[in-house]
Amino acid sequence: MVDITPPDLLSPEFATDPYPIYRTMRNKFPIHHDPRLGWIISRAAEVRQALTHEDYSTASYAAVRELVGRSILEMEGAEHGRHRRLVSPSFRGKPLASYGEVITAAAAELLDELAAKPDPDLVRDYCALLPIRVIMGIMDLPRQDYAMFQVWYRAAANYVGNYTQDPDVAEAGLRAKRELHKYLQEVIDARRAEPGADLMSSMCTATINDAALTDREILDFCSLLLAAGGETTERGLASTFRNLLDHPAQMTDVRTDPGLSLLAFAESLRLNPPTHILLRRLAATREIAGVSVPEGSTIFCLIGAANRDEDEFVDSEEFNLHRSEIDVSTAFSAGSNHLSFGAGRHFCVGAMLARAEAAIGIPALLRHFPVINYRDGFVPVEEGMLTRAPRSIQVTFGSGR
Ligand code: HEM
Repeated sequence: MVDITPPDLLSPEFATDPYPIYRTMRNKFPIHHDPRLGWIISRAAEVRQALTHEDYSTASYAAVRELVGRSILEMEGAEHGRHRRLVSPSFRGKPLASYGEVITAAAAELLDELAAKPDPDLVRDYCALLPIRVIMGIMDLPRQDYAMFQVWYRAAANYVGNYTQDPDVAEAGLRAKRELHKYLQEVIDARRAEPGADLMSSMCTATINDAALTDREILDFCSLLLAAGGETTERGLASTFRNLLDHPAQMTDVRTDPGLSLLAFAESLRLNPPTHILLRRLAATREIAGVSVPEGSTIFCLIGAANRDEDEFVDSEEFNLHRSEIDVSTAFSAGSNHLSFGAGRHFCVGAMLARAEAAIGIPALLRHFPVINYRDGFVPVEEGMLTRAPRSIQVTFGSGR
């Protein structure tokens, strides 16, 4: 008998392992309507179309407005273009090159701390800390505040992924936002009075249509950077280390040629994307995969499914950093054939910063620890629906067994 029951994204099976369900969706239900969620698309062609065509609006981001304000993600058209032109120069060219030092210093500091841990965990002690320290570094915020930021960042990340609408999680996220804003307001006042060469100062002195950014706009943008650039990079690094530990031959390749680190990162982004789902709202009735979908519908774009589309990648469920379809010169640009940084006008502003963190942070860790094994009996588990990766990678360093 042929099973014609559409897979359920809210089922425990999906939470445990979404990939077989993604495969069924691509092959049997390329578009599926779930009355609790909306319209779900899973093939690369439809997902790419949704991320690039103007009929698919990002008004869906109004849901996180309470946390990050009316963000660039939610904006469209000329307003989006203006904000993007303002922030994207800080993440490429000379400013980006200058962040190399910040990343190298943050990685070195974390590796010394990691080496001293009695129970080292690559996610808790490295992947989760590096992106926040880098963002704080490029904003020129003091080191003694790292721990406080880590708490705010974790609360904000939990808020975004709070699908069960747990009131405690929601309140903790909003409390973190209030504390962060209070903290950053003092920094803004100081940088307005005496600007430096950092990202906060350039926001304080920047103008859009001859008008300076308001304090509120700067506060919201900083909250967005923490939410958009922290957890995603953490997840990407965690999945890369997990994939390398699970594929010792490819780990050896990367150790032998550290230049391959970026391919390992790009391939991990494809196979295990940090963000599995992007939402859009349909601004006009459209035919999608042969089905007419009404204006106003919510569209669930399954990045985790599209990135494994058999039409685009050979042996698409395999981790293979040598695969011919991944090209490191495009994998972090809008020309990328995986969709982990999105596509089109909202393509990730921070993709090149994430690339720099991986290019420095992965080889630095492998150099520091010539032998890494999972702690006895430890098996990493991918968790999360919106963002997904192992939350813990417990390891031992030293002589291999
Ligand atoms: C591996 C790491 C990262 C991943 C996988 C990632 C993923 C994404 C994705 C999928 C989008 C598009 C969202 C959509 O179209 O709905 C996006 C947008 C964005 N990302 Fe990233 N991101 C990463 C790192 C960063 C970093 C490090 C920053 C900055 C510090 C950053 C800042 C942003 C911003 C500001 C946007 C909004 C762009 C716009 O709406 O025009 N991201 N990111």
